Amino acid sequence: MLAETLIYATSYFATPEPFRPHIYEAVGLWARGRRQAQAWLPHTRKTASHIERMIAKLPQRRTVVVLGSGPLFDVPVEFLARHFDRVVLVDRAHIAPARRRTRVHANIRHDWRDLSAATMADPLGFLAGMPELDWVISINLVSQLAAGAPFGSERKVVDAHLDDLTRLSCAVSLVTDVSYRTLDRGGSEREQFDLLYGRRLPQPERSWEWEVAPLGEESRATRRVHKVAFYPDWKQAAA
Ligand SMILES: C[S@@+](CC[C@H](N)C(=O)[O-])C[C@H]1O[C@@H](n2cnc3c(N)ncnc32)[C@H](O)[C@@H]1O
Repeated sequence: MLAETLIYATSYFATPEPFRPHIYEAVGLWARGRRQAQAWLPHTRKTASHIERMIAKLPQRRTVVVLGSGPLFDVPVEFLARHFDRVVLVDRAHIAPARRRTRVHANIRHDWRDLSAATMADPLGFLAGMPELDWVISINLVSQLAAGAPFGSERKVVDAHLDDLTRLSCAVSLVTDVSYRTLDRGGSEREQFDLLYGRRLPQPERSWEWEVAPLGEESRATRRVHKVAFYPDWKQAAA
């Protein structure tokens, strides 16, 4: 709890005023990621390694933008900094641990933005003005946009993000959790939830399970397991 309080305090003044309300939730996500580091490792390793492999396919490596970078659990940010001229990390919360990790890299920038179509007109419009943009990666963001959308507008927000990505002129990769199941101690399913609110996705190149909440994290009786899909070339997959 002391660590969380310190991170909240050190993040507060470094965060532009309109984004300060998001710090509390971001610290909670960071704390959960630390508590469940072992359980999350297969997911964070897979995400990072698929992203790393993708760069061999890019003809140029000038600017890369990561949407939903947050606490940087599944972003191979040091690798990106080594291979690109500029790395732009976009999220509505960049708390102290993420900024500490990136400060040794002069070519990494944190950009505070709301990326939801529920609150912003043209939330990805800023990318049009990004110099020498070669690659955009959306990492475990779209389900969170849905989770934060006003009741009834979740699907619209999901569609807006996924469709806006297809209209970008650079390469686009997408990693997203698509659904979850809660399972009891015996492995029987108790609940399923579609995190994309009915939006059907094409066949992913890779998919895996992410144990977001092992037994004991949210309940002693159940665990929550998410299904993750990876599209190295989202525009081609969605065409
Ligand atoms: C599951 S986390 C992503 C984890 C991250 N990729 C990592 O490597 O740790 C979802 C992220 O979406 C961000 N987010 C949620 N709603 C947002 C919004 N409307 N605009 C921008 N970022 C948002 C959260 O702040 C959070 O960092």
